[in-house]
Amino acid sequence: MEKGKFISFEGIEGVGKSTTIFEVEKFLIQKNIQVYRTREPGGTEFGEKIRDLLLSKESIIPVDSELLLLFAIRYQHIKEVIEPKLNSGIWVLCDRFIDASFAYQGYGKKVNLEKIELLVENFTRKIIPDLTFFFNLSYDLAKKRFPESKTKDRFENLDDKFFEDVYLGYLELLKKNPDRIKNIDSKRNKEEVLKQITDVIMDCFKIK
Ligand code: TMP
Repeated sequence: MEKGKFISFEGIEGVGKSTTIFEVEKFLIQKNIQVYRTREPGGTEFGEKIRDLLLSKESIIPVDSELLLLFAIRYQHIKEVIEPKLNSGIWVLCDRFIDASFAYQGYGKKVNLEKIELLVENFTRKIIPDLTFFFNLSYDLAKKRFPESKTKDRFENLDDKFFEDVYLGYLELLKKNPDRIKNIDSKRNKEEVLKQITDVIMDCFKIK
């Protein structure tokens, strides 16, 4: 049986990632493709519990602990969910994956990138996305879309400089992985953003 495709979605907060993933799922179902939508941090019962701790403002966590927790969640997510789904021919759409660790912990919180590379090499069971969409919207514009009323989590509470570094980090990742990571102009309206993504998917995986 042909393996499913693994697609991840990346970008800073406020870029419209989650709603678009939902539409991409609908698009693939219409094309008679079996899909499974998931997210990180999270994706398993255990991972969702740790997610709550990671995002809680009450948590005081050194950045290396944060990184290890993210990879602990990820390893379990891969072993329990992503790998079995892909092996049974199901496509997996994942809201954030390894690139978020490079962007947030690496470029944002200044963890040495080689440390993160070692974790990727050793704890991802060689499961790397076939395709990654980067929702490209500068932090200035993304911030404007962020509802004032929303209570901020531990990450969203970080300062402007952090998010600017994360954004620039994603641009570096885009440059380093031109075959895998595709740039999505997220200044456009929802329909146009979705079309950019579905066009790439159809082209890459020869879907009609
Ligand atoms: P979400 O709000 O997009 O679900 O993501 C939760 C937060 O987790 C978001 O601020 C980004 C952060 N994150 C990391 O810092 N590193 C990672 O590896 C992942 C997957 C998420």
